[in-house]
Amino acid sequence: MAVLIKNIKKLVQAETAPIPFRAGSEMSNLPCIDDAYLLVVGEKIHDFGKMSDFSEKMLEKIGEPVEVVDATGRMVFPAFCDSHSHIVYAGSREIEYIDKIKGLSYEEIAKRGGGILNSVDRLRAASEDELFADAWNRLEEVASFGTGAIEIKSGYGLDTENELKMLRVIRRLKEKSPLTIKANFLGAHAVPREFIGRQTEYVDLIINEMIPMVAAEELADYVDVFCDRGFFTPEDTERILMQGIKYGLQPKIHANELDYSGGIQVGVKYNARSVDHIEYTGDEEIEALLGSETMPTILPGAAFFLGMVYAPARKMIEAGLPVAMAGDYNPGSCPSGNMQFVLSMGCIKYGMIPEEAINATTINSAYAMGVEDILGTITKGKLANFFITKPISTIEFMPYAYGSNKVATVYLKGKKVVDNGQVELN
Ligand code: NIG
Ligand code: FE
Repeated sequence: MAVLIKNIKKLVQAETAPIPFRAGSEMSNLPCIDDAYLLVVGEKIHDFGKMSDFSEKMLEKIGEPVEVVDATGRMVFPAFCDSHSHIVYAGSREIEYIDKIKGLSYEEIAKRGGGILNSVDRLRAASEDELFADAWNRLEEVASFGTGAIEIKSGYGLDTENELKMLRVIRRLKEKSPLTIKANFLGAHAVPREFIGRQTEYVDLIINEMIPMVAAEELADYVDVFCDRGFFTPEDTERILMQGIKYGLQPKIHANELDYSGGIQVGVKYNARSVDHIEYTGDEEIEALLGSETMPTILPGAAFFLGMVYAPARKMIEAGLPVAMAGDYNPGSCPSGNMQFVLSMGCIKYGMIPEEAINATTINSAYAMGVEDILGTITKGKLANFFITKPISTIEFMPYAYGSNKVATVYLKGKKVVDNGQVELN
């Protein structure tokens, strides 16, 4: 069945000529069409334009029934692309959250054996079915806030068996879910307890055993490393990235969250798709990123939850760089995957204007997960992944009304998958 959305108050991010991302001053450019229509046939965007250019004859040519949706007073946005998440995990970590409130840092909690290793213990004890069910609920949750594509990392297994277990869960999510999913192998998320004091041996295990097995089963699209103070060094990172590339996995890494760790430079050197977190980005890091194909990606939810310094997004944009924003849904540093909140944070804490923040969570984050050819904008031939808002006044209202769910319905691959419905207080 085809779908016609008509009388759209504003069709946001409507792009006729496909582009890979928007950088620098271009980030404040957000092409929109007022009083628009959007026509979907099958899984794809077939056509769009101004209502004044629409004619019923267009529907006759399609040759199949067309469902008509009247979007008067409502806007249509491309669904968010969340290019960084860890939604396959077991249990939760609110005890550490209390430790954090009482003053312990993320690194101190990790040193005491909490943090990532706490989630590793729980994940190892969980079955594939349990992990799948929990992750599926999180997918439903993020979709209800308007996310249509998500990258998911391993990294709570930290041994061959459990890393493969996580990646197989991600593969099942890919197969079953209407969201577009990319898998990222993050064996180098932390040094597991059994290798503490033998970090190089653990890196050897990742290189010699895990990467070849991940590649043999075609379980991952990307390879990741947490390259930061107290975690993996730039030297460890180089070794892992070289092996990943040899096995067909492009890097996409965690860098410079805790210090000027050299992670950004290593990422650029190995042509990473993105470098993520990047709170510690100075002139040298910006210089390295300029002219590269690596997307600087900030994770507002993690910086907010951990009370970290905020990445200098404004400075990066002024320097001519693109910036993407992603959710980082995980049990330790960001137990939320709400991309509408990320949008608000981009404006409130990073000084982005709403147009920049929308570009950062759609086209630029689509690039950061390698789906810019099929997602991230309303463009003919791309997948019909979009949401219809509740009645809203302006696009600025989206980040302004933080905490509210402004999304009414979500369509993924041309099908309505979310209806946030109405609450009736009788
Ligand atoms: O992206 N920084 C490293 N990894 C995750 C946190 C993982 C955890 O604490 O469980 C992140 O923030
Ligand atoms: Fe992360």
